[in-house]
Amino acid sequence: MNEKQRLEGQQVQTANPSDKKSEKDYSKYFEAVYTPPSLKEAKKRGKEEVAYHKDFDIPQEFHGMGNGRKFYIRTYGCQMNEHDTEVMAGIFLGLGYEPTDTVEDANVILLNTCAIRENAENKVFGELGHLKHLKKEKPDLLLGVCGCMSQEESVVNKILKTYNQVDIIFGTHNIHRLPNILHEAYMSKEMVVEVWSKEGDVIENLPKVRQGNIKAWVNIMYGCDKFCTYCIVPYTRGKERSRRPEDIIQEVRQLAAQGYQEITLLGQNVNAYGKDFEDIQYGLGDLMDEIRKIDIPRIRFTTSHPRDFDDQLIEVLAKGGNLVEHIHLPVQSGSNEVLKIMARKYTREHYLELIRKIKAAVPGATFTTDIIVGYPNETDEQFEETLSLYREVGYEAAYTFIYSPREGTPAAKMQDNVPMEVKKERLQRLNALVNELSAEAMKKYQDQIVEVLVEGESKNNPDVLAGYTRKNKLVNFIGPKSAIGKMVKVKVTDAKTWSLNGEMIEELNAVEVE
Ligand code: 5AD
Ligand code: SF4
Repeated sequence: MNEKQRLEGQQVQTANPSDKKSEKDYSKYFEAVYTPPSLKEAKKRGKEEVAYHKDFDIPQEFHGMGNGRKFYIRTYGCQMNEHDTEVMAGIFLGLGYEPTDTVEDANVILLNTCAIRENAENKVFGELGHLKHLKKEKPDLLLGVCGCMSQEESVVNKILKTYNQVDIIFGTHNIHRLPNILHEAYMSKEMVVEVWSKEGDVIENLPKVRQGNIKAWVNIMYGCDKFCTYCIVPYTRGKERSRRPEDIIQEVRQLAAQGYQEITLLGQNVNAYGKDFEDIQYGLGDLMDEIRKIDIPRIRFTTSHPRDFDDQLIEVLAKGGNLVEHIHLPVQSGSNEVLKIMARKYTREHYLELIRKIKAAVPGATFTTDIIVGYPNETDEQFEETLSLYREVGYEAAYTFIYSPREGTPAAKMQDNVPMEVKKERLQRLNALVNELSAEAMKKYQDQIVEVLVEGESKNNPDVLAGYTRKNKLVNFIGPKSAIGKMVKVKVTDAKTWSLNGEMIEELNAVEVE
């Protein structure tokens, strides 16, 4: 019986750190009552079929559990986590809880965590420290940790050992079990731990409270099978599981009907969409070709892997319309040797050819990327190749990172002869280039008219509105509040390194936008 089957009896496990007598007793105790998550288990890719559940409902016995109570969720990491938070918020509302923006007011606080780099994890441990005093003031407060960090056994063990202010830990495959987990936490004085190492099924119809009514995220697949040697995601998010096309299309249609202006299709590796279907041949190109026909002004997708980016998708993107001409295509490194050690399974030449094909098919296509510097043993020459590739592609922006070893991944076991000082210096040099090319790209917009989807007031000045162009450029401009949520034309008066300033000249009807 595997862990999932064992838990299918809807039993939530608990562990009580206060029973700890000595370090040894402590670990014995946990062995007896609690199975920690296992990265080794999470690495396995079995042939077992994914079941699709279309009938999610909050069990009757939990209705009203949140009456008179408030929840607060703090989200770290990527859009996938942001979207998971929307689902958890939907479940909380279904249980009768009310949302709050202040931790002091909350009866349940969840930290939806990210495991991608060490500093992401450190932020969470810091926050758990800050929240400890609230537990003292409000003993019936529930403090929970969920998201990617909960999938790591080292993290769960650390929390059990040193953060006994935590009441709940649950994993990325256990989100739909939130009602049961909360119930158990109220019933028991012990820490509730429910982390399935193996991915669960695909569950449709989960409730969602979306963060706004202008842009929406739509999951198209879960998990990742790429196993790049540095990356924890295939372990924390499980194997690739695609949602059925009809479910995705229905969700996008509903969002269009509700007036949403922009959809981002989400997955850890969206280009692998559909590869797991056994009964149909259906990929991301097919899906995009359907979705582009839906009456919604903008469609994006993220994140792409260059290896699976096929010609069919390029052909569909070339049809334009609501498919925007901005592509985020993480390259990670410009050196073939480094790409090989990263197990990216493409070469610099293959990547550049892909960019060439997209540029040829999609007029005006722009690119952004992710880059890791200071990979174990990366040489100066190899780093220079990343810089030269950056110029050759002509990226308009990039997320840049110093390599961070993640326990359980192959790269974490590699010897590394690159001192931190050198890594930092490489990051600075790369960032200088990123800024230079971004400023250059922005300059081209000076005095031009751009189409902006207005998202709201600018962060720094409520008299200024802010929104993004199809190519994802931030535009700040003076305009009437009535423009919020609409597509408008703005004349650019000032091009900065990372944003454009302008004046609104015209409001467009969303339907007219091509
Ligand atoms: N160290 C540094 N950066 C990483 N990324 C993923 N794993 C690591 C790691 N161990 C970066 C990659 C990825 C982005 C989401 O985070 O660039 O594309
Ligand atoms: Fe972080 Fe990756 Fe998890 Fe997103 S999927 S929260 S980036 S570890």
